[in-house]
Amino acid sequence: MKNRLIAPSVLSADFGNLQRDIEMINESQADWFHVDVMDGRFVPNISFGFPVMKSIKKHAKKFIDVHLMIVEPEKYVEEFVKEGADLVSVHYEACVHLHRTIHQIKDLGAKAGVVLNPSTPVSVLEDVIADVDLVLLMSVNPGFGGQKFIENTYKKIQQTKELIEKYNSKALIEIDGGVNQHNAAKLFEAGADVLVAGNAVFSAENPAAMIEELKK
Ligand code: DX5
Ligand code: ZN
Repeated sequence: MKNRLIAPSVLSADFGNLQRDIEMINESQADWFHVDVMDGRFVPNISFGFPVMKSIKKHAKKFIDVHLMIVEPEKYVEEFVKEGADLVSVHYEACVHLHRTIHQIKDLGAKAGVVLNPSTPVSVLEDVIADVDLVLLMSVNPGFGGQKFIENTYKKIQQTKELIEKYNSKALIEIDGGVNQHNAAKLFEAGADVLVAGNAVFSAENPAAMIEELKK
């Protein structure tokens, strides 16, 4: 059976009420916590680092999916795994030695993902697809929540599926940016396994009901 996993992005949570928002996710039908780390260098925004990661881990009862939007991620992956990341994804565009970084994450005992910006073609994954647990396709330019979904993502899902098949890879496909109740079903049908949702969930009147709707 196809996966239909929902990963609410903590980036859009109310940081003054972080425990409350994490408990909402714990009790909802959400599958993963998506944790967006931004350094103000790889992306034009700064989000949070280890202290907030620690607080998330303290309360979260589900799988923790860490998305590193930082330069030189190899310097920090060990600490994120130590702080409780189950999966660490690094950007193709931020890794000079991507193969090494993927194996560094796996050797630490976590799952390893690779992320592509909207302008990066899927074909660059040809030589690592067999090694990764997840391909994260950005459907907005990374840096901010609440942006408009880029339609070209559907084509990239198809290309990623073909690459996964060609190399007999076990990688899941995750989509991040502009996911909402209007495109979620279409994305799952196109072949996405995991959908990240920040704004759609946390700006909803009833976030738990929105998570349920996205999963349908
Ligand atoms: C964007 C982040 C996303 C973001 C998604 O740089 O990687 O995870 O929070 O937010 P929405 O769902 O609001 O587009
Ligand atoms: Zn993200």
